[in-house]
Amino acid sequence: MNFNDVLNSRRSVNFFDPDKRVSNELLKSVLDMAAKTPSSFNLQPWSVIVVDQESEKETLKKLAWNQPKVTEAPLTLIVLADRHGWKEGHPFVEKNFQEMIRAGSMQESQREWFKGAREGLYGATPERQLAFAAKNAGFFAMTLMLAAKSKGLDTHPMDGFDLEGVKKAFHIPDNYWVPLLIAVGYFKQGETLMPAKWRKTADELIVRFD
Ligand SMILES: Cc1cc2nc3c(=O)[nH]c(=O)nc-3n(C[C@H](O)[C@H](O)[C@H](O)COP(=O)(O)O)c2cc1C
Repeated sequence: MNFNDVLNSRRSVNFFDPDKRVSNELLKSVLDMAAKTPSSFNLQPWSVIVVDQESEKETLKKLAWNQPKVTEAPLTLIVLADRHGWKEGHPFVEKNFQEMIRAGSMQESQREWFKGAREGLYGATPERQLAFAAKNAGFFAMTLMLAAKSKGLDTHPMDGFDLEGVKKAFHIPDNYWVPLLIAVGYFKQGETLMPAKWRKTADELIVRFD
């Protein structure tokens, strides 16, 4: 599938075949593709919880406005955005720093500078911390949906859910915000999608504030 076909055929699908599982191998290949997403300083402050057990799917559905796709899709991903994914001492921040040293793009002597840059950009206020987590995890989620489509899977993003309820039911630590859920599976043959939705034109996208 070329990129235009992926873009044009990705839709938020309401009809999933409940009998068609997504293999672990396929899920992992989609996640590996989504991992190519760019992020602030390459900090990658995102993760997913894979909800594919029937009882957990029922729990999640109840917390997600009873949207049937949560149980009809073979799996739903809870996307996590780490509001602390810029902090000194965070394991992936340290891994990122070490990888940059290994690649020759950073030196140990720059540790304090890098720490200060992250704190200034992302740590100054709770709003900045949330913005850092949300924008990066949003990009990740989009790549994931396009990657899934390119592999023959369909998806449905959802922010219609009880944030605090989901955090509690899935024991999600407080540093994470949950930007969205993504149902993933195979389109149920025989169903018909609504026509594709309207989009802003390029002219409508361009603004300025003189
Ligand atoms: C962050 C986000 C949250 C969404 N939440 C829901 C949701 O809870 N329930 C739902 O039915 N659709 C939800 N949608 C789907 C949108 O309605 C859909 O993407 C939009 O209408 C465009 O349709 P398309 O994805 O088929 O192109 C969500 C989409 C996004 C990106």
